[in-house]
Formats: sequence, structure tokens, C-alpha cells
Amino acid sequence: MTTPAAPDVLFDRQGPVATITLCRPEVLNAQTPQMWTALREFGRQLPGDVRVVVVRAQGRAFSSGIDLSVVKRTFAEMTSYSDDEVANRIAFFQEAFSWLRRPDLVSIAAVQGHAIGAGFQLALACDLRVVTDDAKFTMAEVTLGLVPDLTGTKRLVDLVGYGRALEICVTGRRVDAPEAYRIGLANVVVPGDELDRAVDDLAAAVLSANRDAVVEIKALLSGAGERDYPAQEAAEREAQVRRIRDLAGQGE
Ligand code: CAA
Repeated sequence: MTTPAAPDVLFDRQGPVATITLCRPEVLNAQTPQMWTALREFGRQLPGDVRVVVVRAQGRAFSSGIDLSVVKRTFAEMTSYSDDEVANRIAFFQEAFSWLRRPDLVSIAAVQGHAIGAGFQLALACDLRVVTDDAKFTMAEVTLGLVPDLTGTKRLVDLVGYGRALEICVTGRRVDAPEAYRIGLANVVVPGDELDRAVDDLAAAVLSANRDAVVEIKALLSGAGERDYPAQEAAEREAQVRRIRDLAGQGE
């Protein structure tokens, strides 16, 4: 099934794997509010039996960030909005990204070339990142006098630590693929022509695991930062009791 929802983003579903493809290669997949609206809608309508979501992009770059032609127009529009209206608009766009963290699925970004600003944050919204050896991550919002606001700041800190995250966001410098791997931003780095296969392999590995165990593991790990040791150990026990009961029930 292939559903064109916005001309610039495609949604494709093959059994338990859904694929989102950014398709504006002529502008290096620069992102527009229409694309965020479509992404948000994909998340809201995602069938419950999808287990893996792959976010990929056509052409030589994953995404060059917000479409610069939109920035000026958006600023002009927002001068007539109240603070709450601006915040609500941002919250709407954040929902295009945040659903990729959903506990019942594992999301994988397939990143080639540039991932800038909103593109970097889209890759960060995914649970895992498979990147090519020419990948370059840049949090360029600061160059526009802005902050990263599309859900990327927490995941970046969680992955690379506060000091590195601050330096990457404040300098707006490029992080190349070897560094991305070294600091925990990329799960795996592959040559350009092996990106699709590496993503397929990772998706297959996720699918070969027990779905309920994967959901419990994701909940345990993604919530670990907010829990102290006793709370985390309690969460492990509770999850394991559920698993044991479930597996025992299946064996009856
Ligand atoms: N918006 C609109 N068009 C873009 C674009 C963008 N973000 N990025 C690239 N393009 C267009 C270029 O204008 C060019 O179009 P033409 O062929 O019509 O001239 C085409 O894509 C190819 O780009 P380049 O020729 O520039 O390619 P390059 O390889 O020489 O450079 C690049 C690549 C370094 C990514 C450069 O294009 C660039 O710096 N782009 C701007 C990146 C940027 O600043 N993005 C905003 C990030 S901040 C953000 O995203 C904020 C937020 O969420 C609020």
C-alpha cells in the first residue's frame, strides 16, 4: 500500500513495517509546515500492528532542515499571533515528531548526507539512526537566532550528554559520521550503497524479537533516566512478572 498524503512525503506500509519517505530531493528535502502536518497525520492514523517505522529520504541528503523560503513568511505571520497561539502552533508541529517515540514501535532513521536543523531533529525523534559514511548532522537553528524546538533537545542530551549537546547546538557546527558514531548519535555507519540493506537488517532483527518483550524493554530503557535505582529495579520486576505470566499463559 502506498498512500500519497502530501506531495512531499510518502507513507508506505508493508506488513509490520511502515516507511515514511521525504521526497523533495531537489531542495535536499527541506521541510515545510505541510510536510509536518502530513507526518503528524501519519502518526495519528498508524495501524496498531505496525512494529517498525523507517524514516528515509530521497536524494543525496536526508534533510536540509526547514525550508528557508518558509522561515520569513512564518515570522511575518506570527507577528499577529499571541504568545499562546505561537506556542500552540509549535506544539502542533512537535506532534509530527513526537509520535516516533511511541512505546509500541521502534523507529529507525536512515540518514545520508546532510541532516540539518529540523532534519537533525527528525533523525533524533527516531529511536535508532543508521547513517552513511557521508552523513553530517548540524543543529543550525542558532544561525537563525532560534532554538531547536521540534523535540530534539532532550534526545540529543540523552544520547551525547549535556556538554556535547550544548556545544553542538550553540556552535551549529557539523558532526560527521565517524564522530556521530563515536558519541552515540549513530547506531551504525555504512557505505552509501548499503544504507537500505542495513536498515532492512535492523528492522528484521527487531521484528524477529518477541513484540511484547520489545515494548517492555523500550519502556524500561526510555524511562530509565527519570527513575532512581529502586524505581528502575521495581519497573524491571513489574515488567518481568508481566512477561512471565504472559509466556506461561501462552504455554498452557
Ligand atoms: N530550504 C530551501 N532550499 C534549500 C534548503 C533549505 N533549507 N537547503 C538547500 N536548498 C536548496 C538550495 O537552495 C539549492 O536549490 P537550487 O538548486 O535551486 O539552487 C538546492 O537545495 C541544493 O542545495 P545547494 O546547492 O546549496 O547544495 P550544497 O551541497 O552546495 O549545500 C547545504 C548543501 C550545506 C545543506 C546548503 O544547501 C545549506 O546550507 N542549506 C541551508 C540549510 C539551513 O540553514 N537549514 C535551516 C536549518 S535550521 C532549521 O531547520 C530550523 C527549524 O527547524 C526551526
